[in-house]
Amino acid sequence: MTKDSPNNRSKISILGYEIFQLLRFEYLKIEKKLSDDELNIALRRRVHLIEKGYWGNQINFIKSLIAKRYYFEAKNRGILSHEEIDWCEHILFGTFRTDEKSDKREVVNDELAIILKKRRSVRSWRQTKIKKEIFEKLIEAAKWAPSSCNRQPYDFIVTDKKEHITLIYKIKRQKFLEYAPYFILVTINKDSYRSKEDFIYFSGLDAGAAIQNLLLKAEELNLGACWINWKPKSISDKERDRMKNAFKIPDDYEVVSVIAIGKPKEKPFPPGRKDTKEMLHFEEYGSKS
Ligand SMILES: Cc1cc2nc3c(=O)[nH]c(=O)nc-3n(C[C@H](O)[C@H](O)[C@H](O)COP(=O)(O)O)c2cc1C
Repeated sequence: MTKDSPNNRSKISILGYEIFQLLRFEYLKIEKKLSDDELNIALRRRVHLIEKGYWGNQINFIKSLIAKRYYFEAKNRGILSHEEIDWCEHILFGTFRTDEKSDKREVVNDELAIILKKRRSVRSWRQTKIKKEIFEKLIEAAKWAPSSCNRQPYDFIVTDKKEHITLIYKIKRQKFLEYAPYFILVTINKDSYRSKEDFIYFSGLDAGAAIQNLLLKAEELNLGACWINWKPKSISDKERDRMKNAFKIPDDYEVVSVIAIGKPKEKPFPPGRKDTKEMLHFEEYGSKS
């Protein structure tokens, strides 16, 4: 790559932007001006980006300094749950390795609760072959999800073809995707819906429920998967055509999400969740008893 290649230029401008951000934080104390909710969202986003970057070896020192500022402010305000503190400290100051013990911190006796808590978005895999029957089990689990009017508007395309993996990586540009052993494309048949409004509202929910079933089954089968967004606006028309040609997707079908999947090499530290009591309201928003 030459010194002035677009890739180098964009790296320099990203670095410049990050330095500018850091100075802004230093002088304006941005984090102090945010409401609790804004701070929580900003912190979660920053820590998540660092966590995700790790799996593609893209750790950015300045990004992590800004995240630390958010973190200390949020911790001082007492707005983080224990799990969130553990997660932030692990990503911002820790070794970045899986801590199996932390998965088992809380004693949970029912099998579903264990699987729900153990499932993680895995972003590093072994290049091991997976039998077709295993994929059948995943789709068997996916199809039992609820769907609006029981439409079951989805199809699933499994691939481990190198050209397919590279194509998806080049479209999403998330480094770890280059090393995914398999992808499962989730498509939705647009004709299943009566109107565009129905399609927009229901298709993501229908696919989302099926994908979650699939991810939980994958956890049960000791596979590691990561749900990859396929936001329509982030995909150009050219890229959409390339996908349609590569996978022979019919015109009335849309890709809604892509799942990267394989035998996990490493499982991330559990990203903390908010306190249940903070999200649970009885009768009225804000009432806690
Ligand atoms: C709709 C949706 C889209 C997602 N898209 C991506 C993505 O493009 N890249 C990625 O690395 N993770 C993606 N994720 C995974 C989330 O980052 C992850 O679920 C979240 O950080 C919590 O971590 P956990 O799944 O390990 O509990 C997505 C999750 C959902 C539900």
